[in-house]
Amino acid sequence: MKLTNAFGLLADFWLAIRAAFIPTVNDVFNTPSLLFSPSLVSKRFMAYVWVAFADSTDDAGRAVKFGLITPHAHGVVLDIGAGHGHTVHYLDRQKVTQYVALEPNTRMHSHIRTRANAAGFVEPDGSLAILSYGAQDTARIAAALGPVDTIVSVLTLCSVPEPERTLHNLVGDVLKAGGTLLFYEHVRNPREDVAWWQRFWTPMWQTAFDGCKLDRATHVWIDAMPVWETKKVWGKDGEDFESLFWHRAGRFVKKGDA
Ligand SMILES: C[S@@+](CC[C@H](N)C(=O)[O-])C[C@H]1O[C@@H](n2cnc3c(N)ncnc32)[C@H](O)[C@@H]1O
Repeated sequence: MKLTNAFGLLADFWLAIRAAFIPTVNDVFNTPSLLFSPSLVSKRFMAYVWVAFADSTDDAGRAVKFGLITPHAHGVVLDIGAGHGHTVHYLDRQKVTQYVALEPNTRMHSHIRTRANAAGFVEPDGSLAILSYGAQDTARIAAALGPVDTIVSVLTLCSVPEPERTLHNLVGDVLKAGGTLLFYEHVRNPREDVAWWQRFWTPMWQTAFDGCKLDRATHVWIDAMPVWETKKVWGKDGEDFESLFWHRAGRFVKKGDA
């Protein structure tokens, strides 16, 4: 593997530190009680990081997301780890009755609301809901929403705790029979040398990016679930085979009686 690929993520790491370190230290200085809650400090850090990364990350995935989300998202759409709500740019307003943004980092909610409102999804008529649960809180999600038609995950399953169990519960308890799971994720690279570097960097990377793991075989876990009527997985045009951020997109339709 070329060293430029193996070390390429250091530029992003540096950008994250530059964007988030001083504002986060300021927050801790102004609210010293944050020191007793490392997870809140990490969420603050990620909120500042995502201000710097959200638009360019969306640009980089635009073509795939138009092919994945626009034709297939329908009815009630649950967007897990909604970030700043960029998914709304890909929703067909005629086919989507409600956009539910699941985002545990409440400092991102104002961005979601602004984007969703501009796309015609608003809270007063129920076409927009913002929930601050984690994707793993499936009982609470199911209680709040009932079964949903579509689950979208864009670059989120890398961060959720217990991803296989969370997927099992989301698909089993939240996605309705006949519903669609759409994902666009960076996953474990099939080349063992690249996967080695993904494992190497993950402990450092996850501290800056709110638990994001580089080496999860998310697409494999989803594919192995015995609940699908149809399934399709594809990659990102032109992506370097040595990429540490090796993407897979997938459209999986749950069996009508599952
Ligand atoms: C890389 S960002 C992607 C945001 C958005 N999906 C996008 O593509 O612009 C990952 C998002 O997952 C959220 N997240 C982290 N842990 C999560 C969890 N346990 N459940 C749901 N979302 C989570 C983060 O707060 C962040 O907004």
